Amino acid sequence: MRAVRSMFDTIAPRYDLVNRIMTFRMDVGWRRRTVRDLALPHGSTVVDLACGTGDLCRELAASGLHPIGMDLSFGMLAAARTTAPLVHGDALRLPVADATLDGATCGFALRNLVDLDPFFTELARAVRPLGRIALLEVAEPPNRFLRWGHGLYFGRVVPRIGGLLSDETAYRYLPKSVAYLPSPGHMLARLADAGFSDVGRDLLSHGIAQLITATRT
Ligand SMILES: C[S@@+](CC[C@H](N)C(=O)[O-])C[C@H]1O[C@@H](n2cnc3c(N)ncnc32)[C@H](O)[C@@H]1O
Repeated sequence: MRAVRSMFDTIAPRYDLVNRIMTFRMDVGWRRRTVRDLALPHGSTVVDLACGTGDLCRELAASGLHPIGMDLSFGMLAAARTTAPLVHGDALRLPVADATLDGATCGFALRNLVDLDPFFTELARAVRPLGRIALLEVAEPPNRFLRWGHGLYFGRVVPRIGGLLSDETAYRYLPKSVAYLPSPGHMLARLADAGFSDVGRDLLSHGIAQLITATRT
């Protein structure tokens, strides 16, 4: 956990810039879709876990929701550009009472959590019945040709961009860390086990990103 925190502290100052360049700004549309599919009414309180520099918090606020950002990295929180309240903390131990949140989002951080089961259990504890979650993450395209190009781009090009603008080691690790994600079927089944229904997964941009949504039973 300390290594993850220190890596994000290092890349925080240029995190947004590198994101926009390496995804050709597609990440902006993915976050918009995340908030749309969260499908909560105006005024709902939503915790954005692993909020980083606050992109999802801004998107949530723009849709009339009340976001609270939470992240482990002081560097990312310090670089955040959002008016949402920000909390330093671990997504596996939320400082809220049971069933108090209307919803939760999490962008591009599932693969940084060593074990997803405790995370899903913690989400189920904190989100109220009929509350919603939306988890955005990178993915590998199902199409073989696209997967090959995707591997080449993230394996060779992205570390170069990262090296020029930020930290090459981090941008060599980040694309590879998709390998730490359990299979989609496993993630959806574990969410259902934790106490969510309506569990669904959509592929975005031909499968280079994925969005998992669910309703607290
Ligand atoms: C790739 S960044 C994503 C930031 C942001 N959600 C976005 O959409 O751009 C991953 C973030 O997860 C945070 N993180 C990793 N493990 C965490 C944990 N256990 N609790 C809270 N934040 C964590 C890191 O500090 C980092 O800011």
